[in-house]
Amino acid sequence: MRIVTFKSHEEMSVFAAKYILNKVKSYSKVNLGLATGGTPLRTYELLIDDFRRNFTSYQNVYTYNLDEYCGIAQNHPNSYHTFMFEHLFNYINIPKKNVHIPKGLSDDIHQEARIYESIIDELGGVDLQLLGIGENGHIGFNEPGTPFDRETHIVKLTESTRKANSRYFESMDHVPEKAITMGIASILKSKEILLLASGESKAEAIYQMFTGEPNIDCPASVLKNHPNVVVVADKQAASKLAPIKV
Ligand code: GLP
Repeated sequence: MRIVTFKSHEEMSVFAAKYILNKVKSYSKVNLGLATGGTPLRTYELLIDDFRRNFTSYQNVYTYNLDEYCGIAQNHPNSYHTFMFEHLFNYINIPKKNVHIPKGLSDDIHQEARIYESIIDELGGVDLQLLGIGENGHIGFNEPGTPFDRETHIVKLTESTRKANSRYFESMDHVPEKAITMGIASILKSKEILLLASGESKAEAIYQMFTGEPNIDCPASVLKNHPNVVVVADKQAASKLAPIKV
């Protein structure tokens, strides 16, 4: 696992967008794992800018989102489905059939989780997985305590995660209590992982993931077991890792 640090969120987003574009341009078909949250937003804007200027094609890109809230419809304003279309897919030429996002509303949500995992496997697995990180070290929606061998599954969100995400909802009462998420084992199957971390609120999680052995109290620490991980952080997120030069 290596870390690349930048002075600002803008600089780290430029790096991340270039990294993703390099994959999209270099291969005839790419399976991209995508994340939601505030951190990758600027990266997605830069991909859209590039599409407008350079017409980089996404016809042969297949996407697999990490997670989705349970109990809300795809077209709900706060669904991750809506987020991805409003912040990326509506503005690039990706065919809708290439987009995969777990469904949070289903008669059998556990069956939905199994189906999602098998779709990713059958389509060849994720080539590059983009990750954010929660303040408590969660990746996807895998909260502390999640066993490392879980594939796509249903989780009960912690109060701290619901609180952190409540900024997108009318009030805390509107934040769903459960989510469907790729598991840690699903994430580890990706060939390559790019984790983005920005801001002081992520500093402790970044510190925990780099120090000590992988442990379930900090889900992101499992990435030490993966051979090809790049952590992209701004100086605030990397601030507890001194003396790393930023
Ligand atoms: C949510 C998502 C995660 C994301 C995290 C951090 O919980 N499920 O995938 O990494 O938020 O979000 P932000 O980038 O807004 O801090």
